[in-house]
Amino acid sequence: MISEKNSSQQAIDLEDNYGAHNYHPLPVVLSRGEGVYVWDVDGKRYYDFLSAYSAVNQGHCHPQIIKALNKQANSLTLTSRAFYNDVLGKYEKFVTEYFGLEKVLPMNTGAEAVETAIKLCRKYAYEKKGIPENKAEIIVCKNNFHGRTTTIISFSNDEDARKNFGPYTEGFIKIEYDNIDILEETLKTNKNIAGFLVEPIQGEAGVYVPADGYLSKAKALCEKYGVLFIADEVQTGIARTGKLLAVNHENVTPDILILGKALSGGVYPVSAVLANNDIMDVIKPGQHGSTFGGNPLACAVAIAALEVIKNENLAENAEKLGKLFRSELQKFIKTNSLIKLVRGKGLLNAIVINDTEDSSTAWDICLKLRDNGLLAKPTHGNIIRFAPPLVMNEEQLLDCVSIIKKTIIEFQS
Ligand SMILES: Cc1ncc(COP(=O)(O)O)c(C=O)c1O
Repeated sequence: MISEKNSSQQAIDLEDNYGAHNYHPLPVVLSRGEGVYVWDVDGKRYYDFLSAYSAVNQGHCHPQIIKALNKQANSLTLTSRAFYNDVLGKYEKFVTEYFGLEKVLPMNTGAEAVETAIKLCRKYAYEKKGIPENKAEIIVCKNNFHGRTTTIISFSNDEDARKNFGPYTEGFIKIEYDNIDILEETLKTNKNIAGFLVEPIQGEAGVYVPADGYLSKAKALCEKYGVLFIADEVQTGIARTGKLLAVNHENVTPDILILGKALSGGVYPVSAVLANNDIMDVIKPGQHGSTFGGNPLACAVAIAALEVIKNENLAENAEKLGKLFRSELQKFIKTNSLIKLVRGKGLLNAIVINDTEDSSTAWDICLKLRDNGLLAKPTHGNIIRFAPPLVMNEEQLLDCVSIIKKTIIEFQS
């Protein structure tokens, strides 16, 4: 029996005993969220400084999104694509106009959307570019993170993600991120390249922001060599970095755009792949799909979530607060030896801890941040990612900056 009001330890024990150990959560048990805040089972309030890995950009339980969810849930939730439904078409028109690409293929999770983009890119290469069967290659970047499926981990270089999950899917060439010369060399020397799959900022790897101009130069090279530019904006998209999409900072329009996470404001798994007709039309009935992809509930939620982004000017807010956050922390780290640097764009930021990669310092700091009322999580290496909901206001952001500074100082004493 699960008691009505779980204590933290009971909830942790249940997960430990009955759930696969495929995550290592920070020990805090949450039971409620509203806007930039979450509460634990004992009623303690925290700033959420992770936003479910940038899925909750619109803030927890945004009333407009929840209203859309409830309204749709009361009329129709799932038809499968065996039949038409009266929301999917509306959503498809809305989302394609919103992002300026002609067609959308709806899926559920980010990894599924990445898989979809890979299939689309390959099919286009064989049918429109004339690449010989089974020879298509997609260029990916070192230290990428695109999800957890067998194909996706095949081109990861994270041993935890890969080891003992082989045999791996072929057809990927891994190159250094943020190195335009290597990209050109690879495009020049391989004749069967179908696409270049890239994260505009490598989030999971530790919020690596490429040099200004990298994305626009990469797009230009893809055009020159007739290769599809595929932007994985699952984490960077939907206003997180201070523009609707991170590629918008360099006025790049991807040939294939991959979205997930905040497409639903963290309310429901909704992902999407967008492309123009000449690319998307290579997919015919029976060649790709998902029972839940494009269901009416997902569509209603996604429309509401995207409306919130525009109505509340969340990209502009992320841009403004991101600058403030980095400048406050830059000032602080000049006087502090524990933090090596702060980097990021908009409200996707990270601090790099001055310690060896395998030390537990970042984790220990996150425990102290939790004690001081702010939730964040280390990412690869000794790096802490900071990604609060974009509905945060300046006063709240400055409060968070004080919590972070105070925690670091306490940690050193
Ligand atoms: C850039 C990127 N792509 C894909 C994914 C996978 O998304 P999901 O966890 O919804 O499958 C993630 C998740 O963090 C991501 O950051």
